[in-house]
Amino acid sequence: MFDEAFKALPESPQAISVEIYRERQQRFLSQYDIGDLVIVSSLPVSTRSNDVHYPYRSSSDLLYLVGWSEPNATLMMYHQDEQWVSHLFVQPKDTLKEIWEGRRPGVEGALRGWAIDRADSSDDVYQHLEQLLEQAVRVHVRSGVDSVVDSLVIAAIEKRDRKRQQLGSGPISIEDPSQRIAEMRLRKSDAEIEHMRFAAEVSSKAHELAMAATKDGIHEFQIQSIIEGFFVYGGTSGWAYPSIVGCGENATILHYTVNNAQCNSNEIVLVDAGAEYQGYAADITRSWPISGVFSDAQREVYEVVLEAQEKAIDACRVGNPYNMPHEVARRTLAEGLIRLGVISQSLDEALDPNTGELRRWYMHNTGHWLGLDVHDVGIYKPDGTPRLLEAGMVLTVEPGLYFGAWRPDVDCPERYANIGIRIEDDVLVTEDGPDVLTHSCPKTIADIERIVGSA
Ligand code: GLY
Ligand code: MN
Ligand code: MN
Repeated sequence: MFDEAFKALPESPQAISVEIYRERQQRFLSQYDIGDLVIVSSLPVSTRSNDVHYPYRSSSDLLYLVGWSEPNATLMMYHQDEQWVSHLFVQPKDTLKEIWEGRRPGVEGALRGWAIDRADSSDDVYQHLEQLLEQAVRVHVRSGVDSVVDSLVIAAIEKRDRKRQQLGSGPISIEDPSQRIAEMRLRKSDAEIEHMRFAAEVSSKAHELAMAATKDGIHEFQIQSIIEGFFVYGGTSGWAYPSIVGCGENATILHYTVNNAQCNSNEIVLVDAGAEYQGYAADITRSWPISGVFSDAQREVYEVVLEAQEKAIDACRVGNPYNMPHEVARRTLAEGLIRLGVISQSLDEALDPNTGELRRWYMHNTGHWLGLDVHDVGIYKPDGTPRLLEAGMVLTVEPGLYFGAWRPDVDCPERYANIGIRIEDDVLVTEDGPDVLTHSCPKTIADIERIVGSA
């Protein structure tokens, strides 16, 4: 059932090359000095139940710096013999474990295929760390990721006064390297953009297939299964975040993930679902009528959100403050709701962050950075002022309107009761203007009405 859609996909990009990882590490390390020890650990495996684990995903920072995706890994970077050394500790080869859990590159495999200078077994990580801490002046580590690393670093710092006095050695400070990595991750390279484009293409196609299969009486989980099924069929690792599939009043719940209701022909279904490809996320929302035809009321709301989204996308330009798309979307939504008679305040009153009525129906931001994390890293207001957009940044644009008739805190206009619409695309900022990575996902009323129910 997915084969035609699969054949229409672009070729999946190759893994990011060792040379690119090396260049990244060099740029990262150029911010550090002799005497600095940088530690980046993998995330721990999480238990789902008894001896069943959640599918493993490593820390995005470790993926970014070396692309190592197995658990129990630690990257240490330090200056030795006049050069920087990238030293990775990995799970060693172990035939019995590999029979049960899968093959491992091990120490030799890591040295052959990854951008590192030294590799050792993760069994030896703490012994090496103790030695490296003796020589380090500053330690750069994010606390809370690996508790044993944390305690060794803290112990080394606690000993520092004595050590320093006797030997002149031992670390004197701990810093979190995350912000420096985040600054780099915020600006995507060509290889990263290629990966994100692929995740976006697979996700767009998945939404289109779900639209086509939609019919009266379909369940939310059936729409979810088509979308997530194609994420995997299309060659990604699956969802980048739990899929939101809500019809009727569920479409007005921003992070609804129960996905167990049956959909009626008079309802809108809101689907927020994106795939992950080699660590990189797509994040798409589409909202469509179960019947395949928008009612007048649904169309009115949809048109306002679509206008807001298109104007906000157009604001994703080099030099604009990151929050300009949000301000443009807010203004357009407020104007639309005044036009529809939902808001009786003036435009300025409606936009007031405290007393404006827009907040009743639009209660979230218009977007976020996107990359290895769905809500990707990067400070929005360095030094307290909004960051200006640069070429290579990727952000989502996702305005919406949510008329939850179930809400006790507002009087929902009857005409729009339980209509929830969000439209979300992923936008790459370029010197030539916004480049919508998810452009092939249908979103005009004409396209949606043509596709819904067509399978
Ligand atoms: N999918 C989560 C979000 O749109 O932010
Ligand atoms: Mn989003
Ligand atoms: Mn989303």
